[in-house]
Amino acid sequence: MRILVTGGAGYIGSHTVKLLLARGHAVTVYDNLSFGHRDAVPKETLVVGDLKDIDHLDQIMVVNQIEAVIHFAAFAYVGESVTNPAKYYQNNLLNSMNLLERVRRLGIPRFVFSSTCATYGVPTAMPITEDEKQSPINPYGNSKFCFEKMLADYAAAYPLGFTALRYFNASGAAPDGSIGEDHTPETHLIPLVLQVALGQRPHIEIFGTDYPTSDGTCIRDYIHVDDLAEAHLLALEKIQPNQGNFYNVGIGRGYSVREVIQVAEEVTGKKIAVKEAPRRAGDPPSLVAGSDKIRRELGWQPKYTQLRAILETAWNWHKAHPKGYGDK
Ligand code: UFG
Repeated sequence: MRILVTGGAGYIGSHTVKLLLARGHAVTVYDNLSFGHRDAVPKETLVVGDLKDIDHLDQIMVVNQIEAVIHFAAFAYVGESVTNPAKYYQNNLLNSMNLLERVRRLGIPRFVFSSTCATYGVPTAMPITEDEKQSPINPYGNSKFCFEKMLADYAAAYPLGFTALRYFNASGAAPDGSIGEDHTPETHLIPLVLQVALGQRPHIEIFGTDYPTSDGTCIRDYIHVDDLAEAHLLALEKIQPNQGNFYNVGIGRGYSVREVIQVAEEVTGKKIAVKEAPRRAGDPPSLVAGSDKIRRELGWQPKYTQLRAILETAWNWHKAHPKGYGDK
């Protein structure tokens, strides 16, 4: 398939591009490199461009005879979305809507969307299934939720098929060490913990120790980025015109912040200093995926079911690339 990947030079995007290429697809990456990295994708696949430059993007889709779009490009800092919602609605919703409209007009039949467990807000039951009421608690989650609705309406009215994948906590790196996680600024637990192990930070702050969980710290479902990438491939293959599907993508097992730190100490062989800190605004206590639907309907099966194995790939990347891609 000839596939356009917006935001393909970012963390999850680049791992998906690597897998798509390995499976013989023709890939065009469209990325403005504001968060993505030039070295995260093969040179010949990359078109540097902005999502808001919709005529340019349209032209790229026409010239490359695109048959499917995987749409990663988005802002994803929950805290920033609360203080600057305009930025999130503009990019994650309006720019995405412009893209979807061009996709429709060009008659491109397949669309895969990066959604998030943040669309559930504070769930009422655990593990979270796709039937859980979606009630986001921040503008980031709202922007993704609104676009999901738009996709559903488009698929009902037009000959377009889509899959929205609701990611849990993406983590890890390519096992060959070629690409990995590098955000500026970095806010995610695992890379921050590994930066402490590398001596780049004095300690990790634990945001909240009084949650109603086994050890008082937040629980998350950490899923290896390659398993997420695989979900995109399976989704693409199964998309049918006029149909839309929503899937949670997580391994179905939660780890607390303290457990992540403990496993990181085992994997790195380093003592990780911690500092207990207040809760971070907008963090639900526990998010664990019920992923039966994607296993059943797409035959998806995570290769990485243990946090230790995920952290080993992440540590491998961070050790070899202590400054990440070194371009920011
Ligand atoms: N945490 C700390 N200390 C840190 C960083 C994080 O204790 O320095 C905790 C957080 O409070 C949270 C857990 O570690 O409980 C994981 O935090 P991350 O920032 O790594 O990930 P989030 O669960 O906040 O975010 C992920 C995705 C977002 C998505 C969100 C949905 O990265 O894009 O899930 O809740 F919006």
